[in-house]
Parts: sequence; C-alpha cells; structure tokens
Amino acid sequence: MMVVMGAPTIITLDGPAASGKSSVARSLACTLGIPFVSSGLFYRAATLLVLDCEVDLRCEDRILTLLRGHEVVLMPELGGNRVLVDDSEVTEQLHTDRIDENVSAVSIHPQVRTWVRTLLRQVPPPFVVEGRDMGSAVFPESGLKFYLTASPKVRAERRVGERSADLSAVAEAIRRRDWLDARQLKPAPEAIHIDTEGLTLDQVVQVLLQHVLVVGRG
Ligand code: DC
Repeated sequence: MMVVMGAPTIITLDGPAASGKSSVARSLACTLGIPFVSSGLFYRAATLLVLDCEVDLRCEDRILTLLRGHEVVLMPELGGNRVLVDDSEVTEQLHTDRIDENVSAVSIHPQVRTWVRTLLRQVPPPFVVEGRDMGSAVFPESGLKFYLTASPKVRAERRVGERSADLSAVAEAIRRRDWLDARQLKPAPEAIHIDTEGLTLDQVVQVLLQHVLVVGRG
C-alpha cells in the first residue's frame, strides 16, 4: 500500500467495455489503500431486476417504479465489489451473457442514469470509481480523471481470457456493446487518455500512479 499525501479523494476511470477499467481500478485502489467502485454493477443489478420481474426493457417509467421498490446496495470492499438486492447477494449473477446482452437497453434510460448517479453520490470518499461517464457526469469535481482505451480486438482477447468463450463471438458482442453504449461513453474533456494496448495491468497501474503522485505533490 502506498500513502500519497494530497492525492485526490475521488479518482475516475472511464472507458469502453473490456478496456481493463475494473482490473485497473481495483489494483490502483488497492495500491492506494482505498476502495474502488464499479458503477456498471448498478446498471447490471437494475438489469437483473428488470429481467427477473419481466418488465419491458423499453418502458422507462415501469423500470423506475421497479427500481424504487427494491433496495440495491453496493459494498465497495477493498478487494472487490459486492451487490445486494433486498439483502440477497446477487454479485455472481451480474457478469453473465444474459446481463451483458440486455444492460445497454436498461442503461440508456435517463431516469435509470439518475437513479445510479444518486446511489453513487452516496458512497463516502475516498475511492477510485470506474464506468463510462464518471468524470464527466457523476463526479465532475474529481481531481483526477482517466480514460482508458484499447482496440476492439485487444479487448475481445482480454475478455476471452476472463470467460471461456469463442473469440469471434466475443469480438462481435463487444462491437455491439460499443455501438449501444456510444451515447453513454463520455470522457471528461480534461481526462488523461491512456492507451492500454501492449501494456500489462501492472504497467497501466504504474502510469496512473505517476499521475496520482504528480497531483498529490500539487
Ligand atoms: O462496465 P460494465 O461492463 O460493468 O458496464 C455494464 C453496462 O453498464 C455497460 O454496457 C454500459 C452501462 N454503464 C453505463 O452506461 N454507465 C456507466 N457509468 C457504467 C456502465
């Protein structure tokens, strides 16, 4: 663990699907000894509720009524995030093809985004938070913002490593999610862009840490 005096209390990390945001956020947060928050888990939990309750994915008002009727809690623990819905652990159910295929349709609704934003703003700093619009829309006051990129091919190869699946099917699924998520993906203008292609996880974290140290020295 590295204590960086003067480090920003909220560090945002945005980027497309499978750009390595979660692993990088977890590792950076762990090095700094602070929790990390994976904002996509709220969208994933909302999608799980919508699918399980068979609510029409296109019906924003019904989705919001459903969400207001349940308690979704994200536990930003040091090593990983857990999600509870009405006190039941659902973490394991959130990274499945069923959720991947439907989460973009849920997260496109402005009222769902406001619901997630409100929940995220209740998390007490310090933390590293990753998502699509953390630096631009949810935590514009963050003192340090990153935007991670990598080509669709490299992202597909990484995802195949995480879940045993066929490369071309994964590449197609990532292309589809890039297209569906395009409107949500909003890097802050001042975000520092990091191309992660050809870099290991540790190397990416080292690059980010250098920026944390620079801002900390202020
Ligand atoms: O980061 P992830 O793959 O867990 O995100 C799941 C989905 O949630 C992603 O397809 C788009 C949506 N999402 C979003 O719209 N805004 C965020 N800040 C995070 C995720």
